[in-house]
This record gives sequence, structure tokens and C-alpha cells, in this order.
Amino acid sequence: MPATTMEQLVSLCKRRGFIFQNADIYGGFQGLYDFGPLGVELKNNLKNAWWRAMVYERDDVEGLDSAILTHRKVLHYSGHEDTFSDPMVDCKDCKCRMRADTLKDGKCTECGSTNLTEIRQFNLMFKTNVGPVVNEESYGYLRPETAQGIFINFKNVVDSTSRKVPFGIAQIGKSFRNEITPRNFIFRVREFEQMELEFFVKPGTDEEWHEKWKEARLKWWEEQGVPAEHIVAKPIPKEDLAHYSKATYDICYEFPHGLEELEGIADHTDYDLANHTKNQDEFKINAHVHDKNVDSTSKLALYDEEAKEWFIPFVIEPSAGVERGVLAVLTEAYTEEALENGTTRIVLKLKKHLAPIKVAVIPLKRNNEAIMNMAHKIKTDLLKLGIGRVALEDSGNIGKAYRRHDEVGTPICVTVDFDSIEQEPASVTIRDRDTMKQTRVNLADLPNYIREYFA
Ligand code: GLY
Repeated sequence: MPATTMEQLVSLCKRRGFIFQNADIYGGFQGLYDFGPLGVELKNNLKNAWWRAMVYERDDVEGLDSAILTHRKVLHYSGHEDTFSDPMVDCKDCKCRMRADTLKDGKCTECGSTNLTEIRQFNLMFKTNVGPVVNEESYGYLRPETAQGIFINFKNVVDSTSRKVPFGIAQIGKSFRNEITPRNFIFRVREFEQMELEFFVKPGTDEEWHEKWKEARLKWWEEQGVPAEHIVAKPIPKEDLAHYSKATYDICYEFPHGLEELEGIADHTDYDLANHTKNQDEFKINAHVHDKNVDSTSKLALYDEEAKEWFIPFVIEPSAGVERGVLAVLTEAYTEEALENGTTRIVLKLKKHLAPIKVAVIPLKRNNEAIMNMAHKIKTDLLKLGIGRVALEDSGNIGKAYRRHDEVGTPICVTVDFDSIEQEPASVTIRDRDTMKQTRVNLADLPNYIREYFA
């Protein structure tokens, strides 16, 4: 099967309503995309699969939803104000601006000129004013990661749940980075969603947990239809590690534009909790402390009953980008198939739990009242199964309906025809997306059939 190209995905996503360029009626707002009627379903399904695996199926993780607007002190003491930047350079000839680490042999990526400015650091955080008074102190940030919301709530969660290590806090939500050069469709964007877990462990057990989480996350991606053979878990060289990390695996996927990061799994040691902890000198701290003058009011530590001392947990952080996940599952699912009649069909072979529409109910004739009534009733009955979106597809052209639902990955089409209303017992046709096989099922058996299919 030929590799999926970005052009194929961009075209399908626009044509079928998965993803649109933001503000396209004004020429587009760079680095921002909107998820359309089917994109929002796919994205929600991926997030739900993550939440289910991380929170519901485990007994050692709690969930959280913290604010997006972030106190400036949080991002000062976390180190983001000082270090969350990319090296930037301008081309004096073509005036384009780029990340210095993307230069090709020291030349401008657009025009090839070597007439470049000095490299300078560009902080990626969006700063904004909060409240009606604008002064030196009144600013905050749109969060550049969801992780800080978890660290600053560590004590709240521990106090309200009595958790002891090892345990984690999971969060899904928007993050914002003023990328110098957003690119590759939804891969590098300025507003995106993260699925982050901060897993707190006893110091000394971190390396073992780091490995465990790498394995768990690879297995999860496989369950989403992104197989291990298209993924490389790259250990990041020491000199390239983020300011908080002792060791990181970049889980890299073969995207249409190349092998790039889908998820990072980092061993943060005690960096985060230590940096937000008051009276740090009370503790034996392993990580470097970003700013010793922290004025937090709380110690983000746990009491070890055996050793009779307080300690700051180490953190393992699996952090995945939702948009990158969507791009990866679309890349895997996109298929162009040659059919026996000489035509080709595009089919999105998404895992069924990710499919935006689970079942399309297709009345063969939209101006036939009995057929329409039965189709409406089937839709209502199937919806009660709680499997997700069930759509009534009454375009009136069965061939086009199948084609559309193949392209958007609907696993099952149910067709109501004249036999359905005229013959006893009533039955419908079920068409399978992948095999295109059609089977006749009695109407009375349909809910069970569908329930079992999606179980
Ligand atoms: N919290 C890690 C990241 O945002 O990349």
C-alpha cells in the first residue's frame, strides 16, 4: 500500500468536514485549525480512549481540569519564563523568520541566503493581561502545557484523595505556544490539546516506572491503530533534554512529513514539585532548583511513614499531543482501494471506537413515509445503546451514501428498503465498511447485533 501523503489527508479532512483552516474567510490565521463536524467526534473519541485507559481502567490515577490562564509565578518558578524558548533567526534578504535549528547548512530555508541576523531566543508563551488594571504585575499566560496545572494542584489532590505514591494525575486540555514556524498541517500549531499524565513515584523507582510507561503507551497507540512498527522510541541525548528532564523517550511516528514526535515520556525527577515548594532547604533535592526564592505557601511533598521524613516525589510524564494523535490515526487509516469494477474507493479504516459516526442509517427512499419512519425509529433505538453518534443519512442516493461513509470511516451502514417495510419479519441490510459485505438482519436482532459489534 503506498504511503499516505499529507495532501491526501488535508483534502479529505476539508472535503468531509474533519479539519478546516481557522479564519479561512479572512485568508487564514496561521498555525490554527478548527475541527469540523466529524473532526470533533474523532478528537473526542481519541481523548475518551486516553481518559479511559489512564483514569478509569487504572486504580492509581485521578483526573483534573485546571485553568488555562496561568499565574505568572507558576511559569516563573517552573522555569518557563526563562527557558521555554526556541532559537530564532531572520533572513535579511527575503525577510522570513525561522527557527535557527531548522537552517540547512546555515542557509535560509526559504531562499538559501546566508545573510542572516544573529540568533536570539524567542519565548514561546502567550502573555496576556488579566483584570482591569494594566501594570507590571497584572499579566498572566495562556498555559504552554497542562502539566503545571497538575503540579500546583498536587497538594489539593493528595489532601482530598489520601493518595500515596505511586499515583498519577491526568489532564486533557488546551495549551498554547507561539511557534515561530507552525507547519505540517495540524502537526505544529499554536493552539493545541495535550493529554498529560504526571505519575508521582518514590525517588529511586523512577527509572523502572519510566520503562513501564513507555511500554504502556506503545501498547495504547497500537490499540488506536498506530502500530509499533511505525513508531520509534528514541532516547533523547543528554545535551538535548528539556530543562526539567533527567531522561526522555520521544515516541516518534512516521508522519507523512517524516519521523517526528507523537508523545514524550520524560523522567522529571523532583524538578517540578521541588521548584514550587516553600522552604526548599528542608529537603534533599535532586534536580537543580530554578529560583531559590520561591514564595509558594506550600510544600509539595509526602511523608514517608517508614523513614519518618518528608520527601518530594519524582515524576514520570507521558505527554501526548491530541492533534498529532489525530494525524497519526488518520495517516494509518487512510486507504485507497482498487475495486473489482475498475474504480477506486477511499476508505478510512479507523478503529471502530474512534470512528466519528458509528452507524449510518440509510433510508432507500426519502419520500417514502414508512421507510423514513422505520429509519428514524432505528436511529433512536441504536442511539440508546450509548455507542456514540448514529446518523440518519437521507441523501437519497445509496451509492453516494456508502462512498461518503467509507471516506469518513463509518464501520456499519444499515439500509432500510422496500423489503424492510413489506416483508415479515422486518429486516434490514447491514454493510460492513472494510469488507463491503452486505448481510440481512432481522430488525428485532439489530440492537443486539450492533451492541455486540461495538462491545
Ligand atoms: N509537559 C511537557 C510538554 O508540554 O511537552
